Amino acid sequence: MERRGFVKEIGIGLIGFGTVGAGVVECLQKNGERMAARTGVKLVLRKIADVDLDRDRGVKVDPAILTRDGNALLTDPSLDIIIELVGGTGFAKEVVLKALQNGKAVVTANKALLAEHGPAIFQLAAKKGLPVGFEASVAGAIPIIRAMREGLVGNRFQRIYGILNGTCNFILTKMEKEQVTFEHALKEAQAAGYAEANPALDIDGFDTAHKAVILASLACGSPLPMKAVFVEGIRGLAKIDMEYAKGLGYRIKLLAVIKLADDCVEVRVHPALIPADSLMASVSGVFNAVMVDGDMAGQTMYYGRGAGRLPTGSAVVSDLADIGMALASGVPPPPVFPAGVTAPACRSMGEVTNRFYIRLALLDQPGVLGRIAAVFGSHSISLASVMQKETQTGRHVPVVLVTHRAKESDCLAALEEIGAMNVTNGPAVRMRIEDLGAEK
Ligand code: HSE
Repeated sequence: MERRGFVKEIGIGLIGFGTVGAGVVECLQKNGERMAARTGVKLVLRKIADVDLDRDRGVKVDPAILTRDGNALLTDPSLDIIIELVGGTGFAKEVVLKALQNGKAVVTANKALLAEHGPAIFQLAAKKGLPVGFEASVAGAIPIIRAMREGLVGNRFQRIYGILNGTCNFILTKMEKEQVTFEHALKEAQAAGYAEANPALDIDGFDTAHKAVILASLACGSPLPMKAVFVEGIRGLAKIDMEYAKGLGYRIKLLAVIKLADDCVEVRVHPALIPADSLMASVSGVFNAVMVDGDMAGQTMYYGRGAGRLPTGSAVVSDLADIGMALASGVPPPPVFPAGVTAPACRSMGEVTNRFYIRLALLDQPGVLGRIAAVFGSHSISLASVMQKETQTGRHVPVVLVTHRAKESDCLAALEEIGAMNVTNGPAVRMRIEDLGAEK
């Protein structure tokens, strides 16, 4: 770190020169001067490491700062902050731990790494008194980490709802607006470059789960394990359920739900029916949104691009500025997880309560509906609405039920009993209804 008049220079090393890496370089090139004027800190990108130095990234960099040797950056005394944009949890983990070990601050966008190895990383950072910035790991350009750590620091967090995967939201929006199948919408997402060729991480909910566990850990003040998160994705979601949901006044979103009580936390990711007139339901296409409920602030909501070169680059450079200012001032930022806070117990999914949307292909014969209703009743589940369309004919017809609030384990037990009654054709479709803070 060098002093230049009022502005102090901070040396930056970037490991991983992919899409986001190029976005970081572009952000610094376009807005670096502006940032220096705003913060009093000049961020100087001194080294970039990547195994592939030949590909055109659409940004010009001095060839003298490029290297294939990422490890060399970890011991380079001219670097104060290492940006890890390698991805994955192998070499990326080594980069982060070694950088901290060598006294360097770290910035990462790697949600999988933080979700799986957060405790080791934050423990080492706290021991070394070094900051780790991870704004880009959740919801891309949306400054949700900073909102929770700074803007809402005076709050006890009660609930957080997130639409955290742009690929899934693109697919769901397509299905709803263009009445196409899941498979068709997924192909369009792949053609548009949103979904990976193997889209499992997105559509099976794991990418959202990684982000959810990061937000839940921040809300609790202590890192939670990935196994605390219940995960269900949107793979194979049927078009007909989108239509029924719409008729009932809901939209289907892949939702991260975090609920905190005095003694426990609930963290889950699954498709959910949310009120069609809610702000969250209006989040379309690849956009992300997070709604945070704090005991003082009430509900606040954040919206923006959750992925992409410049939106994610913008989040990375916000961490560089923040850490740069801390390093320049010599005042270390507070640790991400305060000492002495222990993680609350995680509520098991069976104990979670929700209202449910259930679709059964039911034998269209006298008395069947009555028997079904009786099963729900015997499991303490009260039905709020039942719908069978007159126009649907055949031996089995779709019947859509909406329940009042019920325990997950009771709902599963009722459906198991119904499944054994020989009155249904195929398994029930069941989705949770989230009223986003206005629970009935
Ligand atoms: N694949 C993610 C998405 C972005 O579609 O939102 C990176 O987490």
